[in-house]
Amino acid sequence: MGYIKSAALEETGYVVLDRYNQELDPKEWLDIEYNDWKSSGDTRFAPLASAFGEIECNGFWNHTPPRTDKDGVWIDSQTAKAPNLTRRAQEPGANVGRCRVIELQPNTYADCLYNLHQDDNNRLNPDGTGWVVRGFFNLTDDKDSYFVLRENRTDPSVEYRIALPAGAQLIVDTQRLWHAATHPGPDPRYCLITSWTSGPELDAYIEKYNGKAHVPNVEVPQELLDAGQAEQSRRLAARAAALAAQGKAEWLVMSEA
Ligand SMILES: [Fe+2]
Repeated sequence: MGYIKSAALEETGYVVLDRYNQELDPKEWLDIEYNDWKSSGDTRFAPLASAFGEIECNGFWNHTPPRTDKDGVWIDSQTAKAPNLTRRAQEPGANVGRCRVIELQPNTYADCLYNLHQDDNNRLNPDGTGWVVRGFFNLTDDKDSYFVLRENRTDPSVEYRIALPAGAQLIVDTQRLWHAATHPGPDPRYCLITSWTSGPELDAYIEKYNGKAHVPNVEVPQELLDAGQAEQSRRLAARAAALAAQGKAEWLVMSEA
């Protein structure tokens, strides 16, 4: 039967929406409660919606009963402090699974390439229902930062680099595209990440905000790209060797929440 997916995401796996006027909103992400939750770098997360309304970030499939990344429960104590972020996550009217703010400490392009991962949003997702994708709303004005998206983790020939100023809004099929952020800093980056179920509501939202499947790549000097690629190869090889020495396979430890 297959999943219901957005035609807008078919070509590249992402769309960039019109920029949101982030400067008009209060910095609600500074008021909410964070959890230490390591994912793709030095991170913490502040959930607005979780599996059962608790301030925790685990995948819904790790709860009892296990389920896919849908029907997240809003956390009253958090949404009360972040009404604008909650409103924006709910605006599409699509089903919301996990919804949280990520806090990412500064890193490099090489770190980002090492951190590239695919999400697991559609684990246990019933065939014939909507495919879960993710919205990324950049909250801080990270003028030198960019999201990196690849079809293939180690192949730089298809690499999208998307700028992350305040108000940048992306929707990404994060189970298809390898992704991570390059964030030079010096301050932490904050971004609202929402799991949405694909369907007519999300399609209408993408259309309303003029979703674009192609935007110009952030320009990075070729020597920096090459150095990052070499460093990714070196670190992945070192990790594979370390895991082999422990008798573990990489896929056991790489899956991201
Ligand atoms: Fe991810």
